[in-house]
Amino acid sequence: MCGIVAYTGEDTAKDILLAGLKRLEYRGYDSAGVALEGIAPDGSTTLDVTCRVGKVMGLASELEGHDAASTCGIGHTRWATHGKPSVANAHPHTSCDGRIAVVHNGIIENFAELRDELASRGHVFTSETDTEVLAHLVEEAYARHADLMAAVREACTHVVGAYGMAAVSADEPGVIAVARKDSPIVVGRGERGSYVASDVIALIDATRDVVVLEDGQFARLTPTGIEYTDDAGEPIEPAVTHIDWDVDTAEKGGYPDFMLKEICEQPRVVRDTLVGRLSATGELDIDELGLTFEELDLIDRVYVIACGTSYHAGLVAKNLIEAWARIPCEVEAASEFRYRNPIITPSTLVVAVSQSGETADTLAAIRDARIKGAKVFGITNVVGSPVARESDGVIYTKANKEIAVASTKSFIGQIVSLTLLAMLLGQVKGKLTTGQVRMLFRELGDTAAQIQWILDSQRTAVHEAALACKDAQSALFVGRGMGAAISYEGALKLKEVSYLHAEAYAAGEMKHGPIALIDPGFPVIAVTTKSPTYDKVVSNLKECEARGAKIIALATQGDEDIKQIADHVIYIPPVRDAFSAITASVPLQLLAREVAVMRGCDVDQPRNLAKSVTVE
Ligand code: F6R
Repeated sequence: MCGIVAYTGEDTAKDILLAGLKRLEYRGYDSAGVALEGIAPDGSTTLDVTCRVGKVMGLASELEGHDAASTCGIGHTRWATHGKPSVANAHPHTSCDGRIAVVHNGIIENFAELRDELASRGHVFTSETDTEVLAHLVEEAYARHADLMAAVREACTHVVGAYGMAAVSADEPGVIAVARKDSPIVVGRGERGSYVASDVIALIDATRDVVVLEDGQFARLTPTGIEYTDDAGEPIEPAVTHIDWDVDTAEKGGYPDFMLKEICEQPRVVRDTLVGRLSATGELDIDELGLTFEELDLIDRVYVIACGTSYHAGLVAKNLIEAWARIPCEVEAASEFRYRNPIITPSTLVVAVSQSGETADTLAAIRDARIKGAKVFGITNVVGSPVARESDGVIYTKANKEIAVASTKSFIGQIVSLTLLAMLLGQVKGKLTTGQVRMLFRELGDTAAQIQWILDSQRTAVHEAALACKDAQSALFVGRGMGAAISYEGALKLKEVSYLHAEAYAAGEMKHGPIALIDPGFPVIAVTTKSPTYDKVVSNLKECEARGAKIIALATQGDEDIKQIADHVIYIPPVRDAFSAITASVPLQLLAREVAVMRGCDVDQPRNLAKSVTVE
């Protein structure tokens, strides 16, 4: 939620900030703004703040012709929490005298109290945001310290909540002060300046060696260097992370949108996630688990906690863990998990799944689970993210940066990772033999080529199915077992990118209520791949067909019978039921995207959403 970028150096700050904000736009796109250092007619330094409602492109137009001499500034792209999207609520926010400007990502929980106190001391507020208190707190502290870094450090002592923030002062030209608690901040040195961002993607053109600030760490950037300090102001030497993913990830590479590009990258994601995971002797190698085989053998209950699409990956995992390891596995929305009193013992394994690794609900649930004594294992796509850091062990999904707001390739990476975990638990518990693991591993690897086959041969079928859905008011997704798990994901994908209302049901549940919705032409998207419940799903579909539903079936290649009830058929290659979620999800992603494109929606940045949800 919200993206921050800041630069001080030799180059034009405006261009660097706008390019960075464009890349961070996936974090929020309600409004955008920059504060650039400028020179007043009397030669003194000023701060020139420009904000605009809407996307970064609008801000770029606003700044056209703007003085390009400034070499220091801060920028922000916002996902509204406190206060509607408006110019007044857009960041940067400034102090009363306009000489300090602040950008912030996170939530200041005690902002109302701080605001009242500051107002009683004469500060005037011009926005409804929580962030504005930071500008005034820094202003007060600056009056005492006359040192921006010290002022930011002191301001943070008053704040309860989460922040990644960057501040500039007209009285300290070229200096940017940065602080972090529970909101990501990365800092890096390029050849021609110093950079700050919420995500490495905004500074990867300048440097591949970055510092991911830890909570309670501060950075002071100047055009020639960066100093890191702790909360007592003592110098520290933080670890440097090298970013090795390809810069092309940040570009569309000839695709019309990131969503399609990322869907098409999925064969690679499967292959990369599996590299080096099976030893020559058939043992699975997941060293990063942080648990010995003896400790794993003691696990007698698994909770998968996650949100949204990642939660749906958990539904797939439940089927696999219970089938292969024979231990109970529950899947819980992270936002609910922590408000219950789940049964957790030292032999409980909590698996936290999060693409971004910074979802506030998931992080809060991890912390809760650890306090209750569970082992926590993270599955995330972002190296060094809070979920990775706060878990006992972690598998990285190797999806590389996912830019489209709707998750696709990271979902497939999550399922593959969870499948490995389920196989490992099965092996350690003696329920799967080494030979079975080897065979499953090979078939899991085969899904890469199967996804490629779908991408190469089923686009026309998906297009026709999309034409059949695009004008509907609503759609139902149904399936059983694995088919039910991915139906939930299919429905989420369709509604979030196309704004077409969609629901998912276990197909057998249709007759208990949802079938009342069916009238002639109502789209029912059914996962009817060959599985132990194939005949049952077909019967459920016949009940829908009898009531006039328009049926779109995802079926196994070679299934000609399904054409008798389906109006449209999209095929996936024959695959073991356990792996059908990996392949059958792909046409559902393509379908959602096609419908969205046909309905004129912005598939990469759907309204009201943000890629990282750092509020609870
Ligand atoms: C939907 C989507 C969201 C996320 C959810 C959790 O396409 O992307 O539902 O899955 O916000 O995010 P992470 O996985 O980053 O914790």
